[in-house]
Amino acid sequence: MKIKKIFTGLFISLSIFGISSQKTFAQKNRVNATTETNTSNALASSPLGNYSNEKAGQYIALEAEKRQAINNDLQATVVELLELFHDAKQSHWNIRGPLYFSLHEALDSYASLYLKYSDIFAERQLQIGNPADGRPDIIAQTANLPKFPAGFLSDKQVLEIMTERIFTIAKRVRQRIENTGKAGDEVSSNKFQDLSYELDKQVWQFRAHMQ
Ligand SMILES: [Fe+2]
Repeated sequence: MKIKKIFTGLFISLSIFGISSQKTFAQKNRVNATTETNTSNALASSPLGNYSNEKAGQYIALEAEKRQAINNDLQATVVELLELFHDAKQSHWNIRGPLYFSLHEALDSYASLYLKYSDIFAERQLQIGNPADGRPDIIAQTANLPKFPAGFLSDKQVLEIMTERIFTIAKRVRQRIENTGKAGDEVSSNKFQDLSYELDKQVWQFRAHMQ
């Protein structure tokens, strides 16, 4: 009889505990769902990502109607340079072969140059009143280059892959010198000329290594 009572008590306790646990879990879920809804509602109705100051807006360089086309070229260049920065770092880590030392050093200095120029072009976007976008997912989606291979690469493979990529970007940049000049932004055009010189120099240096 005593044993039966103990079991009955235990069963009731477990049931209560189970029910109360389920309630707690459901309540927690409801709280989380409510919080998420509140957060997304707040984001949708907030000016996050779209902040502007009318008074400051009058001091933006370059006439409003010229800005969009120039900004497209600047933004494209920012993501391409950030992609090249990652490619140069990736290959300088994983390169193997007789040219390891020279290419390891060269790629690291190229990586620094890509980072420096990505900053110059991003800040030019800001100068003409546009936000810059250097987020990783935007780089991957818009740099418009084949995915860089993972793993070890021979020095010959690195030379071919990187020369092809730098050469591709150099061609696009050369076109942008003309675009931005015609669109009435000589300052951006000059910066594209500076970058063009550096990219052509890198392509030449890698060409000189080829056998
Ligand atoms: Fe390094």
